[in-house]
Amino acid sequence: MNVLMVASECAPFVKTGGLADVVGALPAALSRVDVDAQVVLPAYPPLFPLLPEGTEVARFDDLPGGSGRIVKVTAQGITLLLLDAPQLFDRPGGLYVDENGKDWTDNHLRFGALSMAGARIAMGAIDGYQPDVLHVHDWQAALAPVYLRMAGRDRPRSMLTIHNIAFQGRFGPQVLDRLHLKTDWFHPEGLEFHGDLSFLKGALMFSDRITTVSPTYAREILTPEFGMGLEGVLQARAGALSGVLNGIDTDAWNPADDTALAQTYDAKTLKRKADNKTALRAKLGLDPDSSGPLLCVVSRLTNQKGLDALLDAVPHLVERGAQLAVLGTGQPELEQGFRDAALAYPGQIATHIGYDEGLSHLFQAGSDAILIPSRFEPCGLTQLYGLRYGTLPVVARTGGLADTVIDANIAAIQAKAATGFVFTDVTAAGIAQVIDRLVDAYADPKLWQTMQRAAMRHPVGWDSSAQAYRDLYAELV
Ligand code: ADP
Ligand code: GLC
Repeated sequence: MNVLMVASECAPFVKTGGLADVVGALPAALSRVDVDAQVVLPAYPPLFPLLPEGTEVARFDDLPGGSGRIVKVTAQGITLLLLDAPQLFDRPGGLYVDENGKDWTDNHLRFGALSMAGARIAMGAIDGYQPDVLHVHDWQAALAPVYLRMAGRDRPRSMLTIHNIAFQGRFGPQVLDRLHLKTDWFHPEGLEFHGDLSFLKGALMFSDRITTVSPTYAREILTPEFGMGLEGVLQARAGALSGVLNGIDTDAWNPADDTALAQTYDAKTLKRKADNKTALRAKLGLDPDSSGPLLCVVSRLTNQKGLDALLDAVPHLVERGAQLAVLGTGQPELEQGFRDAALAYPGQIATHIGYDEGLSHLFQAGSDAILIPSRFEPCGLTQLYGLRYGTLPVVARTGGLADTVIDANIAAIQAKAATGFVFTDVTAAGIAQVIDRLVDAYADPKLWQTMQRAAMRHPVGWDSSAQAYRDLYAELV
């Protein structure tokens, strides 16, 4: 079975969040269940060194925003079909935003071009390569199923995976023309969303299958609280919608041979994890003699993640003798808030503003617990890394967080099944309460270790989800 993926990020090459981890890890997992997955990805500057190594396999003169060519290259085990269109992607700044953090004004063209290239390849634009399924990720690739449907003829089936419905790719109707979209499809039963063009709605209307990244989020987005205005569209397509839980790359995230750590360890040598705590504290200037748990955050700093509520709970956290280490970038007021917290509680709170892959591994290994108080979370990957590293996740009961962490309630503790702490109320008071439970559990080393072992046993790899995707692909063809 041949699957063509289209996405705007792919780890380890270009990443702003979990989407990249998933697109980077899924092809290898799929190959183990006999699915060949190739990934159409924009050739952003970090990928330029790969272009000369690749082979040009297609050329398009009439994409939105001009011409582009497809360069096929295999790197780190992934077959990439790079869309080389320098006028759209060769620029400094971020994947989606300029150096001032503002969305690129031609994002509709950039990702319209990506989508159209994906649709053309799905229809056989590369000699000798015919995908069976077109599988697109998030709004940046969401016009591909629309272009495929517009072509009208015999076509492969298509599938959309929603990683985060908060990002929809919404633009004024004036862009329709330059995106070569049919204006007679611009109505509420088609591409229109409250007077605008919505990329994501396009895929919701025109894909054969829709998935999202956890079973709980698949249910949540059918409601006004989580559907971000698209709940009606999703309800209409509920029969085509399901949740497939993300996995993680258990080779890239393996405490037993992770080169970013001060000391490797596994469930049998858990004691050695402490060397990482010592190293992390030293690196961040945290008090080495503090006897409480070291909690961490590794996250985009946004309100989605509930970190404003965590900031309000910081005094309580410190009062209970815990330490907090924060690694992240994002909203300026949250960055400033955590900087201020570190100044207010030196030795107890440390903040590292920035994006640092290696450091994120040391954070996971060196901390006792990882805090993820999200208001919504389609899946979440950092709690899975936490489980794998024996770093107990403290999570809000939402989306994929609810699907992957077993709360330390009395029954779960007795059954030795508990892997973390789950709470409901994303407020300072709710977070303070769960921190109380955590500090009490930490004071009981036997209980804590039992939980760490249960966490490290919890399956977090891709095996069962890769099979679930293969089954969905098989149904489609
Ligand atoms: P989201 O995709 O919503 O940001 P996920 O939990 O799915 O949330 O994925 C986030 C990914 O980004 C994880 O791999 C996490 O380790 C990584 N990450 C987030 N912030 C940073 C940072 N400042 N430095 C390094 N890695 C980070
Ligand atoms: C999105 C979501 C996150 C999910 C990731 C990968 O960024 O916010 O919850 O884990 O996509 O699917």
